[in-house]
Amino acid sequence: MSSDFRAFPADPATTARLGELGLDYRLLAPDDRDALAGWSEADNRGFHHPRPTPEFLEREVALLQERRVHGVYDPGLDGPIPVATVASWPTALSVPGGRSVDGWAVAAVTVAATHRRRGIARAMMEGELANAVTAGAAVAMLTATEATLYGRYGFAPAARAATLEVDRRRAVWAGAEAPGRVRYVTDAAAFRRAAGQIVRRQVARTPGEIDRWPALVDRMLGLDDPAGERARATRVARYDDERGQAQGFVSYRITRDGMGAGVVEFDFLAAATDDAEAALWRFLLEQDFVSTIRAGLRSVDEPLRWLLADQRAITTTVGDHLWLRILDPAAALEARRYEGPASLVLELDDPLGHAAGRYALEVSARGVAEVQRLDDGAEDPSSETRAARRSKPVHGLRLGVDALAAMYLGDARASLLARAGRVAETGPGSLAVADRLFSASRAPRLSIWF
Ligand SMILES: CC(C)(COP(=O)(O)OP(=O)(O)OC[C@H]1O[C@@H](n2cnc3c(N)ncnc32)[C@H](O)[C@@H]1OP(=O)(O)O)[C@@H](O)C(=O)NCCC(=O)NCCS
Repeated sequence: MSSDFRAFPADPATTARLGELGLDYRLLAPDDRDALAGWSEADNRGFHHPRPTPEFLEREVALLQERRVHGVYDPGLDGPIPVATVASWPTALSVPGGRSVDGWAVAAVTVAATHRRRGIARAMMEGELANAVTAGAAVAMLTATEATLYGRYGFAPAARAATLEVDRRRAVWAGAEAPGRVRYVTDAAAFRRAAGQIVRRQVARTPGEIDRWPALVDRMLGLDDPAGERARATRVARYDDERGQAQGFVSYRITRDGMGAGVVEFDFLAAATDDAEAALWRFLLEQDFVSTIRAGLRSVDEPLRWLLADQRAITTTVGDHLWLRILDPAAALEARRYEGPASLVLELDDPLGHAAGRYALEVSARGVAEVQRLDDGAEDPSSETRAARRSKPVHGLRLGVDALAAMYLGDARASLLARAGRVAETGPGSLAVADRLFSASRAPRLSIWF
């Protein structure tokens, strides 16, 4: 990956396209605090958030200084507030096999309501794909406000998220007793380092997770704005193993409507071990004077239902969450591990060009892949002699770059996508081979918005 992802200039094709619309596409300098503050105003307006306070702007500017920030300006309007925003940065994405791939995160895509549907978002998104390639990322990723926005650029949902609602009265614990213990975190600042380490370990063991930035861990702990309403309502509990080492924490709040029982809500339960995850769930489920426990951004294969006596205590809603775009298929495919051995030829269609081509994936018995781009004059397994082919059948799939993204972390099986007409096999038995190869023991999951 490029060492300074903020140093290369704004994408010339995007600059030209927006120029034709009479707009100015600008890469903001990290030390231009006024421009970054104006950009943040536009970002908040775009997402229908309230106007930022000076303290909020201060924190935002500090975060944006760590990102590649573009604004689109209309010279007909005065002032520092752009009519469109986008921010991006390089980050690792965890993939099956306990490894990671170089990725490019895209966030804060907004276009002012006064300038919508003129092609500004499309120009910025295609610019971001170009930036990702320049920075050396194999994939780009984002989380989306609407599911209809990003398929057109080759993105597809690659990890879904579950919202779980548990009926407290029915939630009788049936799991084992955890060997460690849960306790409250009373000094969140002192816990910051341990929390960061736990989060890093959770990210490393979960395909679909991306690196966290320090301000996000602070937010989880309520340290970003300690006097603010959200932080004051937040409580943090940790799980320590039998040796007293912190292995997980949860940041939660309990809301109450009048004199009624409370509702426990949490998005951040980070666990480096299964014991920590189970113990923290139990702690939340066994709160008194609570009717419901509501958890967001959980895994679609959460072990919770096997930890309760009554699985019907849980209501689950699942939706798309991480959207992935493969830009360099060879690098992306080689980054993860597979259920090998097997060979598969992928014929990829990519209307935007980045990943189009034929790729031979050769996976060893240990699950390590080697990928060859066949268009580059490499020997094509399908051109082997008939005798050789009979002894070693050539399995292959024809698919769009978005379908590969859906399969990449193990979320959608090739055979499922084939049933929807999104993947076709080029030789008999190929779907079964692909299903086995791409399967992952842990369902992919992303537990943050970005
Ligand atoms: C979503 C948003 C960025 C679109 O910006 P825009 O400049 O109007 O989009 P464009 O004119 O470039 O449209 C690009 C394509 O997306 C489509 N599109 C745009 N908004 C859409 C929407 N809300 N739903 C479905 N399709 C949409 C357009 O029809 C167009 O399709 P095409 O190029 O394939 O013909 C803008 O409406 C916005 O800021 N919304 C609020 C904030 C938000 O939700 N941002 C997304 C963050 S994940």
